[in-house]
Amino acid sequence: MDQPLPTRRAFASLLTAGAGIAALAACTPENPAPSPVAANAATPSPTPTPETPLVTPAAAEPASVTPVAAPSSTAATQFSLTDPASPWVVVNKHRPLNPQNYVPADLVQPNIRLAVSGEAALLNSTTAAAAEKMFGAAAAEGVIMTLASGYRSYSTQVSTYNGYVAGSGQAAADRASARPGYSEHQTGWSFDIGDGRGACSFQPCFAEQPSAVWAKAHAHKFGFVVRYPWMFHDTTGYFYESWHLRFIGVEAATEMATRGIATLEEYFGLEAAPDYI
Ligand code: DAL
Ligand code: ZN
Repeated sequence: MDQPLPTRRAFASLLTAGAGIAALAACTPENPAPSPVAANAATPSPTPTPETPLVTPAAAEPASVTPVAAPSSTAATQFSLTDPASPWVVVNKHRPLNPQNYVPADLVQPNIRLAVSGEAALLNSTTAAAAEKMFGAAAAEGVIMTLASGYRSYSTQVSTYNGYVAGSGQAAADRASARPGYSEHQTGWSFDIGDGRGACSFQPCFAEQPSAVWAKAHAHKFGFVVRYPWMFHDTTGYFYESWHLRFIGVEAATEMATRGIATLEEYFGLEAAPDYI
């Protein structure tokens, strides 16, 4: 490891510090029925990817991720990386939402087990449909997931982020919660899962709960990736969130899993975004 990564203990304590207000946080899922896009889309390359996935991502190792210069996605259909209505929009500390006050046009409440109500129980329609399939498949294997946090408006993110800052200080907050206008939750393409038994929500120990273990192994089959993997905070800007899933479509998520690519930044050939600029 050649990067100044925090120790596991430091990481855990930071997340634990944030856990008290973590219930305020939210993520949004999505499932695209999006329109293919040209502008800012990743450059396609003609290699088709298998329909069915199969290799578990080599995730979770302390790794030094060098941002690739060129897009590495080989998905047949390409989508915009900047349009917040695109399943491939990449939102990170270098890439705020545009427009800043974006609201998805197709927010719906998925027919899944909810741990929240109101705005936080909404997802965009594509993500909602994919979540219903994924939750159903998990349940069929005895794993009960809940929707712990879905859509978050810009104004909700103001409260959420400010809560983290008040509880943990700005430096720790910036490793756990996006600043307003920088959260995937505002797109409707991401959401946070909880475990049916209610254990460890938004805490490091959630990674060992059945829902997180199942999602890590199977979420790509439904178009989701674990957006903030373990020890990739120098790329994503955030510590491990085993609960935060992001919809990018089955083909792309499966390709990431098959190729062992852990982050959207690497998959789309974008620069790492450890901090705001
Ligand atoms: N917890 C993620 C980074 C968010 O606030 O969107
Ligand atoms: Zn989240």
